Amino acid sequence: MADKLIIFDTTLRDGEQSPGASMTKDEKLRIARQLERLRVDVIEAGFPASSNGDFDAVAAIAGAIKESTVCGLSRANDRDISRAAEALKGAASSRIHTFIATSPLHMEKKLRMTPDEVFEQARVAVRFARNLVSDVEFSPEDGYRSDVDFLCRVLEAVINEGATTINVPDTVGYAVPELYGNFIRTLRERIPNSDKAVWSVHCHNDLGMAVANSLAGVKIGGARQVECTINGLGERAGNCSLEEIVMAVKTRKDYFGLELGIDTRHIVAASRMVSQTTGFVVQPNKAVVGANAFAHASGIHQDGVLKARDTYEIMRAEDVGWSANKIVLGKLSGRNAFKQRLQELGVAMESEADINAAFARFKELADRKSEIFDEDILALVSDEEHSH
Ligand code: KIV
Ligand code: ZN
Repeated sequence: MADKLIIFDTTLRDGEQSPGASMTKDEKLRIARQLERLRVDVIEAGFPASSNGDFDAVAAIAGAIKESTVCGLSRANDRDISRAAEALKGAASSRIHTFIATSPLHMEKKLRMTPDEVFEQARVAVRFARNLVSDVEFSPEDGYRSDVDFLCRVLEAVINEGATTINVPDTVGYAVPELYGNFIRTLRERIPNSDKAVWSVHCHNDLGMAVANSLAGVKIGGARQVECTINGLGERAGNCSLEEIVMAVKTRKDYFGLELGIDTRHIVAASRMVSQTTGFVVQPNKAVVGANAFAHASGIHQDGVLKARDTYEIMRAEDVGWSANKIVLGKLSGRNAFKQRLQELGVAMESEADINAAFARFKELADRKSEIFDEDILALVSDEEHSH
């Protein structure tokens, strides 16, 4: 059987760090449920020590999610790690993700610490976290711009302390694919105990290469976890986009040879939900989830697709959750049309009151958005209370 690639979604943590993308507890819970439907392996739910609101959101998600591991971020100190453990205590499966910067620039200018102090703090933090949970991830922040000898020393030590996942962030999106892939491979080859941990990639998109760098980390470097966000949401130009990396690995299984646990049919609804919640519009030509991703406009393409879909389609729209339905609902549509569409979409509403509430949300959205697609409707009603 092929190796599995672990999908670690950080929409609710790194994604939320995008300016203007902050979410309420209820919004985060709703998105976490959609990520669980998507069968994401790990959901990074937040940074519990950063605020009481984030602590509560992580605790609520930990209590609600059963199928995915729920993860909380913490700096490499006892207080942050204890807060994360406390927030995660209701989880069926939990992970603490602790980090400290290791690049010369970050250590000297930001942390004002010597490399030896950083080394010691990383080691002690992982040991402390491992006493609280069995699943501990360590990230050397700005890892890609760190000195490779120093990084090997730190990572070997934290694996000895029990880190189960080693994540190598390209925090500022400076990497290029071949170099990043080789960097991961070098670390894995040089660190004697490297096979005791799962290796993970975490790439930012400042130069538009987050997905390509992550794929190189997997293919060249041998990483088996990818950190990503829905719609590539995240600080500055964002993170590696979940929908793109998942569909690249799935569509090119001939090349990557990896299994995924993801139920890709929920991708489009997840994309819509995150876009509606944050107000971050998805560009029409965005791969996989953009409105035009499966649209064929030119006569030659339409003719080709009608004769054989493979002529111009490398993936099936239905496989990522697009419907073929062309009837567009909008603000002039009535309650009956809305109700019928819910039935066609297989959404069973318990009562007339639920339908009225969903219809009111639909109208509110229709006032902001000229065309309402099936995926919008699914996102509107897809929290557990409404859909079955
Ligand atoms: O980009 C980064 O370095 C991070 C770490 C906290 C993992 O988000
Ligand atoms: Zn990041």
